[in-house]
Formats: sequence, structure tokens, C-alpha cells
Amino acid sequence: MKEKIISVRLFEFDSEDELSSSESNLLNHAKKACTNAYAPYSQFRVGAALLLENGEVITGSNQENTSYPNGICAERVAIFTAKNKYPDIAIKSIAITANTNNFEIEEPISPCGACRQVIAETESRQHKEIKIIMKGNKGPVLLTNGIKNLLPLMFHEEKLKK
Ligand code: THU
Repeated sequence: MKEKIISVRLFEFDSEDELSSSESNLLNHAKKACTNAYAPYSQFRVGAALLLENGEVITGSNQENTSYPNGICAERVAIFTAKNKYPDIAIKSIAITANTNNFEIEEPISPCGACRQVIAETESRQHKEIKIIMKGNKGPVLLTNGIKNLLPLMFHEEKLKK
């Protein structure tokens, strides 16, 4: 037996003022997208914004349902919307944020496991990593280059082809 240590690389910014103008612009789109969330059950409104290689920004918000598992996260709404409209245009970055009236969200919002898997497959489909920018409604910004940093040992579809 040998121990294996996997390291990941994330950057933490005390404030969004430290981001590039393109990054903070994308985060602002994600904040606006929270307004379109349908979250009567969790009251947790999540917004995601994607910057595509053609310069277009596509947004998504979480959409819940009274049959809870039918709801879908903001990230997947945004990614599937982008891939429906522009199947062959790569996604460069995704910004994710959230708000609720019930408490302050001081930790960056990082995508759930299912969304990480969808981001992973999107990267392998486009042969390009996606920059991920995460923020709560307060507090620091977390940034990482590529889903490998959030989903080490990820499941690749090539494993199905053997
Ligand atoms: N949610 C997202 O939209 N994205 C995330 O990264 C975390 C969770 C949604 C799902 C559900 O509508 C609500 O937030 C509470 O979990």
C-alpha cells in the first residue's frame, strides 16, 4: 500500500475588486441571474454566468419543483442552455454566486457533485478547461482553472469505451 496525495490549485481573493474586469463582469451577470431563480422551497437563489469563446454571456438560475429531485441547479441550466444554442462554441469561464433573505452567504458557492460532473464532461467535449469563479453574497472569491481542481479522480466517458 502506498499513500497518494493529490493537490489542487485554487486562488482566493479577499474582494472582487482584485478580479480582472472580465471576471468581475461575469460575476455581475451571475448576481443578476439569481433574480430569475425559482427557489420557493430552499429560498436559496443561485445564479451562474458563462463566458463563451464568441464573447457571448449565457446565464442560468436554479429552478426548483414541488417534487424536489426534479429541480435543477443554476450551473446546469446555464451549461445546457449554452450547449443548446452553441453546441460547438467553447465555454471559457463560469461564475457562480447565490443569495437568500435568510442569512448571509459568506463562503464561495462551489458547484454540487452533479454539476462538477457536467462541467468535467463539457471540458472534455471542448478539449479546453473552464475557469470557475465562485462567490457567496459576501466574503472572498475563489477561482480555479479547470474542474480537475474540484473533481480529482473524475469519471471520464472514455472509461465507457473500453
Ligand atoms: N444549487 C445550485 O443551483 N447550484 C449549486 O451549486 C448548489 C445548489 C441549488 C439547488 C437548490 O435549488 C438550491 O440551490 C438549494 O440546494
